[in-house]
Amino acid sequence: MSDNRLIVFDTTLRDGEQSPGASMNLAEKLEIAHALAELGVDVIEAGFPIASPGDFEAVQAVARKIHGPVICGLARCNPTDIDRAWEALREAPRKRIHVFLATSAIHREYKLKMAKEEIVRRAVEGVKRARGYCEDVEFSPEDAARTELDFLAEVVEKVIEAGATTLNIPDTVGYAVPEQYAAAISHLRKHVRGIDKCILSVHCHNDLGLAVANSLAALREGARQVECTINGIGERAGNCALEEVVMALRTRADYFGLDIGVNTKRLWPTSRLVSRVTGIHVQRNKAIVGQNAFAHEAGIHQDGMLKHSATYEIMRPEDVGVHRTELVLGKHSGRHALSQRVRDLGYHLNDQQLNRLFDDFKVLADRKKTVYDADIEALAESVLHTGPAVWTLEAVTCNAGSGTVPCAAVVLWHKDGTIERDACTGDGPIDAVFKTIERITGVYVKLRSFSISSVTGDEDAQGEAQLEAEHKGRILRGRSVSTDIIEASALAYLQVINRALLREEMKMNPQTEEIVVA
Ligand code: KIV
Ligand code: ZN
Repeated sequence: MSDNRLIVFDTTLRDGEQSPGASMNLAEKLEIAHALAELGVDVIEAGFPIASPGDFEAVQAVARKIHGPVICGLARCNPTDIDRAWEALREAPRKRIHVFLATSAIHREYKLKMAKEEIVRRAVEGVKRARGYCEDVEFSPEDAARTELDFLAEVVEKVIEAGATTLNIPDTVGYAVPEQYAAAISHLRKHVRGIDKCILSVHCHNDLGLAVANSLAALREGARQVECTINGIGERAGNCALEEVVMALRTRADYFGLDIGVNTKRLWPTSRLVSRVTGIHVQRNKAIVGQNAFAHEAGIHQDGMLKHSATYEIMRPEDVGVHRTELVLGKHSGRHALSQRVRDLGYHLNDQQLNRLFDDFKVLADRKKTVYDADIEALAESVLHTGPAVWTLEAVTCNAGSGTVPCAAVVLWHKDGTIERDACTGDGPIDAVFKTIERITGVYVKLRSFSISSVTGDEDAQGEAQLEAEHKGRILRGRSVSTDIIEASALAYLQVINRALLREEMKMNPQTEEIVVA
């Protein structure tokens, strides 16, 4: 690999999934992993296998099915974590174990209660154990940006001797500023023996809005791997946004001079996919993938654009996969056109899922004159979101209006074949529907947010219901679309109830301990 080749390490499925409310099921993770491979990232960090059985299964499935990028699994520096990570990764054609241990004084004293010598010993043991399984081992001194530079250099040197091949320098709490972070990278390059044989990596959090700036500054000082997530999702304020760092490097290749393997035309569809799957909206004015990123409102700008687009545009929308005109489908469109469109939008559905999507598409095309990309994305999401369900909606009706008491009646099927019906009043029709669902299922959740939006801008648009609810300290998400917003709301609520019940079932399994790191 040339000295100027940058390794793009995507951690949407691991650090990104740690955004509150962003947890994904197996099918969703696989979908994103497919899209990341198509985008051309070099490494996919697929999860933290010891964290829960679900995480383990997801890493294992990605390792088995996604070929091309290196598949990476996270582990703390202890044998159980590392063995479990290996177990999940072993079938990947290209794999990496990523071990981490905090090094900063505050983590040593309060979190780990370990002296410096103990940290070095454990880090070395962890890397050696991982190397026993795998030639590609990454080590991260967690909270490196707040670690004393001489101690950081000592740890990094010792883990290189132990066999680490990539050294990641995380700014775990987003505390660094560009010059200082870049200086730390430069210091390590000058003072650590053996570092020239390894890849130095950067991993920045965005608490001060500096994750991309810090990453770019470090790349100028010789770091050759950048860790990032699609749309910058992640713990708290998130991580370095992949699309921003990639487009900065591409647009300012004159300044950075780095080669990247990412196909930038896949940035937009991948961003849309991640946003829909996680339920985390992309702000309108977000760089590169926001709805307004290529919109010109001011007259002077529009005039300049008409004369020469480079007057006000430093990147072309097509370069990031935004098309100025949208292809529309209708009821005469065939299965082939639909499946091609679904693929272009970044979804990889199996035959069974495609068949269901096609059926749903035909029903929708009968109700709506034109089916837009956003409609197809919404249909694809419903197909993907359909996981195992304890309860299924058979029917919902409600009655509301001024001068009446809002009330709802709901009929649900239980997976054991029984059918239950009930009715409730509520503060409004949707409240009445939710109360009835709770009473039938016996599962009570605390609604944190609820919104209904129209999927497209046309008159016969579908309504999309999205909600977040808390159940036993966990945030669960639900989303559904229908041309009937009451039905969409009931389906989204039921999705949350089913997820809560499935979590309860999984809890019977003693390995369901959940661990979260930055
Ligand atoms: O932010 C962080 O320190 C991390 C490590 C586990 C790499 O995510
Ligand atoms: Zn992180």
